[in-house]
Amino acid sequence: MQENTMKRGQFLRELGLSSSALLAFYCIGTTMTACSTGSSDPTPTTTGTTSGITGNADTAKGAISFTLDLTNSKYLTLKTAGNFVIVDSIIVANAKGTLVALSKACTHEGTALSYRSAQNDFHCSNHGSEFSTTGAVEVGPATKALAVYQAQLSSDGNTLTVKA
Ligand code: FES
Repeated sequence: MQENTMKRGQFLRELGLSSSALLAFYCIGTTMTACSTGSSDPTPTTTGTTSGITGNADTAKGAISFTLDLTNSKYLTLKTAGNFVIVDSIIVANAKGTLVALSKACTHEGTALSYRSAQNDFHCSNHGSEFSTTGAVEVGPATKALAVYQAQLSSDGNTLTVKA
């Protein structure tokens, strides 16, 4: 009987240690689980689907050649006539249903242009130059035409390819 009590006590002490050890493992396990399911989940992303653009739209980085995903929220607006977006060095506009892509920089002093749907032109707010959708100067002080790029819409209307 005495021997059984001793064994039980010893057993309980050992169980106590085991419980502490188990608790420690549980805590560590919980922490590690929390870390592995936190905000730093390393799910790979694809550039084209997250940014809506693949290729180069920056003249400082080389030849212009890029594709816009018009289903991406950044570029969806281009499906509607009268809207425009600026992508790095390029301004892309839906000019009365036709997508056009030109240099965004006014040829006078480089101010970024905007597209005006009512006039169907590109306007510089700095000194008032105006350019046609083909890049020609309509109103100065700018004297040099804008660079114009090919803008090819995919047959499903969801992808726009722009290149020199
Ligand atoms: S910078 Fe555009 S008109 Fe002067």
